[in-house]
Amino acid sequence: MSLLNKINTDNLPKHLAIIMDGNGRWAKQKGMLRAFGHENGTKSVRTTVEACARLGIENLTLYAFSTENWNRPKLEVELLMKLLISSLKKELETLVKNNIKLNAIGNLDNLPKVVQKELLEVIEKTKMNTRMTLTLALSYGSREEILNAVKKISDKVKNNIISIDSIDETVLNNHLYTHDLTDVDLVVRTSGEHRISNFLLWQIAYAEFYFTDVLWPDFTEEHLYEAIISYQKRERRFGKTSEQIK
Ligand code: FPP
Repeated sequence: MSLLNKINTDNLPKHLAIIMDGNGRWAKQKGMLRAFGHENGTKSVRTTVEACARLGIENLTLYAFSTENWNRPKLEVELLMKLLISSLKKELETLVKNNIKLNAIGNLDNLPKVVQKELLEVIEKTKMNTRMTLTLALSYGSREEILNAVKKISDKVKNNIISIDSIDETVLNNHLYTHDLTDVDLVVRTSGEHRISNFLLWQIAYAEFYFTDVLWPDFTEEHLYEAIISYQKRERRFGKTSEQIK
């Protein structure tokens, strides 16, 4: 039986978040520059987005550029920004054709103006799409996101818009970049690293984790299916006992 046939489409993760890692090592293994890895990484992005949409996953969030990634060599940062612009231009048609809505989270003001312009254009042109929401985490840091939420809420308290007693998880959630999205059900990280790297810390409270040694440019539909099959074998108890779930 093919891997795809083993997937139960009634039990898909509603929100899949991926830490795409290993582009640099992939290129190095081939004696190439890191840029080559990132370029090939965009192919895996396309394959993954299309496969998720076909499966019926509602939310796919990709960690494309972290706040910490600004510390990489200037040339690499510039290349990643260029790749982003060219991918957005190239993929707009595919997103429209597949009824996919583009969303972006992070400190978007820090992105170069040309990236912001391209991003906003694709977001605008896909905003009515309903099949899947593709969220790109760009200049994203989860601690910064939570800090910003705390500041916005504090400001509302100071201005008597809300009271301290009314602050609960929903209020905090509503002030995050991800306020429109559901909690993450499954986190996938490629390249054999087992860490979260400041990604969606609040939203992964009850997520399942899947780590694979595959480097991101080698990540295929089949690898995605393996991750989902692994997820479907887990019992998600949300703090309850196994008996309570059954
Ligand atoms: C991690 O590999 C990857 C990134 C920091 C960037 C991911 C970007 C892309 C896949 C291309 C553009 C994105 C979109 C959404 C079109 P790494 O460089 O950290 O690899 P290493 O750990 O092996 O050095």
